[in-house]
Amino acid sequence: MMALRFPRRRVGVSALTFVLILGSLATPASAAHPGAAQGTGGAVSSAAPAATAAGLEILRAGGNAADAAVATALALAVVHPQAGNLGGGGFAVVRFGNEVATLDFRETAPAAATPDMFLDRKGEPRPEASLVGPLAAGVPGSPAGLAELHAKRGRLPWAAVVAPALRLARNGFVVTRRLEAALTAEAPLLARFPETASVWLPGGRPPAAGEVLRLPELAATLEAYAAKGAPAITEGPLAAAVELASRRHGGVLRAADLTAYTPVWRLPVRFSAFGWEVASMPLPSAGGIVLGQTCGMLERLGWAAKPRFGADRAHLLAEAWRRAYADRFLLGDPRTSLASAHQLLAPSWLELRAGEIKPLRATPSDRVRSWSRDETSESGETTHLSVLDGEGNAVALTTTLNGSFGCGLLVPGVGFLLNNEMDDFATAPGRPNLYGLVQGEANAVAPGKRMLSSMSPTVAWRGSEVVVLGSPGGSRIPTATAQVLLNLIVDGDELQAAVDRPRLHHQWRPDALLAEPEALAPETASALVSRGHELRIVDQLGEVSAVRRSAGGEVGAAQDPRGPGAAGVVRPDVD
Ligand code: DON
Repeated sequence: MMALRFPRRRVGVSALTFVLILGSLATPASAAHPGAAQGTGGAVSSAAPAATAAGLEILRAGGNAADAAVATALALAVVHPQAGNLGGGGFAVVRFGNEVATLDFRETAPAAATPDMFLDRKGEPRPEASLVGPLAAGVPGSPAGLAELHAKRGRLPWAAVVAPALRLARNGFVVTRRLEAALTAEAPLLARFPETASVWLPGGRPPAAGEVLRLPELAATLEAYAAKGAPAITEGPLAAAVELASRRHGGVLRAADLTAYTPVWRLPVRFSAFGWEVASMPLPSAGGIVLGQTCGMLERLGWAAKPRFGADRAHLLAEAWRRAYADRFLLGDPRTSLASAHQLLAPSWLELRAGEIKPLRATPSDRVRSWSRDETSESGETTHLSVLDGEGNAVALTTTLNGSFGCGLLVPGVGFLLNNEMDDFATAPGRPNLYGLVQGEANAVAPGKRMLSSMSPTVAWRGSEVVVLGSPGGSRIPTATAQVLLNLIVDGDELQAAVDRPRLHHQWRPDALLAEPEALAPETASALVSRGHELRIVDQLGEVSAVRRSAGGEVGAAQDPRGPGAAGVVRPDVD
């Protein structure tokens, strides 16, 4: 039996109207799970207590899952600026009644982007160019994306949904230990831009945990956004301010890029797994495809019947992921992708891939080729939030600036940071990105293109049961999401236990099986090594936010003990 390494103690936090459980204070996996909050009026799980509270406030005010998701995301843009954003982008999987759709508000390459913009004259990668400063920034998708999610699915007035974030920015919020630590870790990046340092390193130092911080410029931006919607940011003086800041530091992002940006509703990647229906993110995310391939191969390999914590299951996971990430090499923006979800999730391809896997021997990644047409006849910061409302409607939303605090540049007069999502493109042949992913031609930079992502917001259901989940973690997102989903739908874990369990990861290249410290018992680890796996122990794989509705209509919420986020539920009976 695996032990857990995360320090935790039980906390019984309840308020009149909602229950809020702090991720880092969750109950141990071995205990019963009162730590996973339960109610019937809806549930929110996110990476920051103040953001979860914002979502719960909106549910209590009669908002639905879309209203609460937008309010939570906007609150994250204030209190969790390393990932929450208005200057980045993201994805949402939305299930209302029996209708499932996904909203793609991923950044795009600016109109002036070129395939070699991150290379020097000799064709060598320019150090940092795709990571630091506004050249690294894609066109922000969040302002239009969050407004679109509300416009299509929200119920409350727009200004009411923006209000909690506006209040946090204007009146101030308490700096958390996580924020202080993130600002301290990234102080060298933030200090490179005086515009950023004046807000996030006042007096040259990060604000200390416990201090109340006000963000007047961001508050003014949110006020304009509440009044006029996305055009308040994507047109006029605020868009001009983005262009000015970009030009000053050598970026190619222009006001016209912001104005031209449009979010896109897309059909989800849909598959059945272990008796559940699953909907996850399609291209330009590889996440749904990796998740679908993983489940498809595992089902064919009889994974569920293997002993739960033994080497067989870990081996098959690694082998399935190795192949799914090899296929990822072919993926990119749907307009240029060299393979589609349809091709990579075809039963014939999954059959063939599952058939390649040797039960007792790792296949070296160099021998695993990506999908081809002939054969068929695959730390930084991101943040995920999961919401259910009392009617069972679900929103899974993952959003990011890519690296922690994005490209480091805060737009003066606007108050938000710009992303460094351009690094998610294949910026130089053969060069691994921030997450060690080596990517293919399909994901080369071109104007207007969306860079390939791993973000995997996911909704799964069986009858009236619903599970909503997702994670940050770059390339590790789909594997973290897959494991929590499998813990729930194969092994029947309680929600919190499913999130708590230690995790593994493999991404084809580098050819290594990553494991959290407590993920493998010593005898399992040696069995895997003797099957040919190179094991590497890493601190943490993902940070999952999950909510769930039982067949009886009760909702539960869990936040990952790997981070200090919070999960909470609304209890109408207590109101
Ligand atoms: O879209 C992607 O796959 C990355 N930009 C996500 C970055 C991320 O998850 C950072 N989080 N820890």
